[in-house]
Amino acid sequence: MSSSIKIPRGTQDLMPGQVEKWQYVENKIRDICARYNYDEIRTPLFEQVELFLRGVGETTDVVQKEIYRLETKGEEKLALRPEGTAGVVRSFIEKKLYGAANQPQKLFYIGPMYRYERPQAGRFRQFHQFGVEVIGATDPAVDAEVISLAMRIYQAFGLTGLSVEINSVGTIEDRKSHRAALLDVLNPVREELCEDCRSRIDRNPLRVLDCKNNKCQTLTKDAPSILEHLSDESKEHFSTVLSYLEGLGIPYNVNPRLVRGLDYYTRTAFEIKMAEIGAVETLCGGGRYNGLVAELGGEDSPGIGFAFGVERLLLALEKQNIEIPVATGIDCYVAIQTPDAKGQAFVLVDQLRQAGISAEMDYLDRKMKAQFKAADRLEAKFTVVIGESELANNTVVLKEMATGEQQEVPATELAGLLSSKLS
Ligand code: HAM
Repeated sequence: MSSSIKIPRGTQDLMPGQVEKWQYVENKIRDICARYNYDEIRTPLFEQVELFLRGVGETTDVVQKEIYRLETKGEEKLALRPEGTAGVVRSFIEKKLYGAANQPQKLFYIGPMYRYERPQAGRFRQFHQFGVEVIGATDPAVDAEVISLAMRIYQAFGLTGLSVEINSVGTIEDRKSHRAALLDVLNPVREELCEDCRSRIDRNPLRVLDCKNNKCQTLTKDAPSILEHLSDESKEHFSTVLSYLEGLGIPYNVNPRLVRGLDYYTRTAFEIKMAEIGAVETLCGGGRYNGLVAELGGEDSPGIGFAFGVERLLLALEKQNIEIPVATGIDCYVAIQTPDAKGQAFVLVDQLRQAGISAEMDYLDRKMKAQFKAADRLEAKFTVVIGESELANNTVVLKEMATGEQQEVPATELAGLLSSKLS
């Protein structure tokens, strides 16, 4: 016997019941984005692999270990998107949005991303990110708006106890001066660092500071901080971002060791964490990427954004016992008492649906008792019964389930009557 085909590891089927929660979350996010004047953008799920090599960075884990490359007959080398920023920036350049009337461009997206990672709670191979990108402004107020948008969304769902970890990773120039001082500390302990750190030391030594390995942390505890190597402008930018956050009452923790896993960041880098979700405690990550548009061949434009995992938001809500309100139930169930009434019921259900009323009927030739059970399971607010005498008189018996109240009504008046009762 051949074995049955299973869902790929690290992916999920979102089933009825769960999907409604996702829709609720997505709708709420879209509402909040509208208040902040962000417009939705939808870019392809796959792009030329070169976009991610240049955009995200060839030496990052995301590109080196986690990217899904597509095998196709065409000559283009394609990959599933591991994140959203590179695609949005590609589109910004291609659609010449730097010339659009409204600046900065404020965009958001919600959709699936793909990373070949070891699956665990809150970590998937197909996951969904909500993210925003603001392109065309260097103003530190934009950094603070972006961070506060993420926080306000979490707060709107009722989450508490979140912390914003924030750092400035400086400009490329700032990092050059830091790099020399950093290597003076890292080189003597090079052989004692973990394998990942040893491979990162020459390519991007800043990443060594972000290693979660205890031994690496101890070995690098006296490493110079990037914050001591910021230019005056970078310092000013960072302190202005922080003062805007203070103005909004958003608590933060400056973490000079925060270095994000993607290569495009300059200056502001941040993460939002929540202790209760354990191993994967990062809910959200983002930062500024002032060199990315030019790196991808566009007219030099500064950018900043963040993304968070929708699965992680749902996990966080579950951990804090926050229920997502899900509307269930239909308006009306049409029960068929005699097989002759089937045609009449079929037309009636169609009329109700056209009138904006959700309606269902029996397709399994069930007995009345089983049809009423089905109506209960569907949480129908009303049931309609068509029997022989109703068929002859062209009427129906309408019952309101909450009150048990029953009345006979002309079939042609049912939709109008139900509409007024439901409104
Ligand atoms: P990231 O930190 O790689 O940043 O991912 C952002 C968020 O996506 C994470 O904090 C997490 O919530 C979620 N996430 C990442 N990987 C997984 C996974 N395997 N399973 C479930 N959730 C996951 C970025 O992707 C940047 N593009 C963010 C950004 C936008 N920076 C600037 N603009």
